[in-house]
Amino acid sequence: MIHSGKTLLAGVIGWPVAHSRSPRLHGYWLQTHGIDGAYLPLAVAPERLDDALRGLIGLGFRGANVTVPHKQAVMARCDRVTDTARRIGAVNTLIVGGDGTLSGDNTDAYGFMENLRREGGDIDPGTGGAVVLGAGGAARAVCVALLDAGMARIVLLNRTRARADALAADLGDDRLQVGAWDDRDRLLAGAGVLVNTTALGMVGQPPLEISLAALPITALVTDIVYAPLETPLLAAARARGNPVVDGLGMLLHQARPGFQAWFGHDPVVDADLRRFVLEDRS
Ligand code: ATR
Repeated sequence: MIHSGKTLLAGVIGWPVAHSRSPRLHGYWLQTHGIDGAYLPLAVAPERLDDALRGLIGLGFRGANVTVPHKQAVMARCDRVTDTARRIGAVNTLIVGGDGTLSGDNTDAYGFMENLRREGGDIDPGTGGAVVLGAGGAARAVCVALLDAGMARIVLLNRTRARADALAADLGDDRLQVGAWDDRDRLLAGAGVLVNTTALGMVGQPPLEISLAALPITALVTDIVYAPLETPLLAAARARGNPVVDGLGMLLHQARPGFQAWFGHDPVVDADLRRFVLEDRS
């Protein structure tokens, strides 16, 4: 690709960064929307993070995505962060202002909810509560998304209960309660939404052991794992008639706000993009 003198620059900061699908995703959008821009993988060692952030500003980048292990550290270096990022405790999207300041946002909660909205129909916060499995960074974003959508009750279950307790205490919302991981089969009774945010069921990871017998047939089941696209959890839910939404859309939709801020277009998430991102075997 040949760049002009006015090419808009963005990228993803991570360590390592080679596994990130973001360059492929944003590159596809730049190409299909015919935008004079570039989105680069930016391998930044932890001890070089400050240099890299100054470099972004100095080189005129419009901004960047932030991935492991920098999502928390970057937050402290931002001049301002959104309320959502502060509640999730991590920044995944940086915008460099015209005045050289850094604004941090977290678009994972948006990506999660947008995926459900587009692929699964609106969830009705009044119909049953949500059961969220896991208590890592992804669970934080999912809980914030569900609370902001007005979910009346969320039960958070994690193998290491202390992590779930810490997450619930951080978010400090009475609607979010912690349950025992070992009670997960039983706690599905009456739920309207079931979300897996653990790594269980991912290629190379152990399966998620759970019985869906008590889950209402109307409950929406979603997994943030997207490799495989149809996890054993989603396959089991689909087989018994539950509506299901796979996790790929969360990845695609969380990328949209950054793309729009840096390149000035709200990009399209469609079946061609899903195929293109899934084709990546690198
Ligand atoms: P992320 O930021 O992507 O959410 P993470 O912080 O590593 O990743 O969290 C991974 C989640 O998967 C955690 O909830 C973890 O449970 P623990 O807090 O008990 O570690 C969960 N997880 C990973 N392997 C698991 C397993 N074998 N059984 C149950 N939960 C598991």
